[in-house]
Amino acid sequence: MKIAVGSDHAGYEMKKYVLSWLEGQGHDIQDMGPFSEESVDYPDFARKVAESVAEGRHEQGILMCGTGIGVSIAANKVHGIRAALACSPEFAALARQHNNANVLCFSARFNDTSTVGRILESWFGAGFEGGRHQRRIDKIESCC
Ligand code: RB5
Repeated sequence: MKIAVGSDHAGYEMKKYVLSWLEGQGHDIQDMGPFSEESVDYPDFARKVAESVAEGRHEQGILMCGTGIGVSIAANKVHGIRAALACSPEFAALARQHNNANVLCFSARFNDTSTVGRILESWFGAGFEGGRHQRRIDKIESCC
């Protein structure tokens, strides 16, 4: 799958782990930065990833910052993006199954790599269930 990955400085180290996990699974990934631990503004990177997914250049996006909150708020400003802040592997699966989320967000500071690995496994192991969930997503898409 074609996946865009981004973070801010707080997520920089965790992003390295995420990139190697995705590579190990054979995904076609693009690291959208940042490329050092120098302090940056998370909306800049969230927007790059979100716009790429919204424009169809990538099928899904993955974003992380200190809490995951900032990148999820910023990504959801881009039309067509359903960014989900996954606080557990269960949240990640439900975000795919019920919300057809197309951008996965999580905290780099409040998760260790083992938990992030399980969040990624859950996310990629789950698929959208459609049906009543599609109707609800249609309502989200039509409201703004
Ligand atoms: C950076 O210190 C921090 O504010 C950021 O990574 C994120 O947690 C914002 O939501």
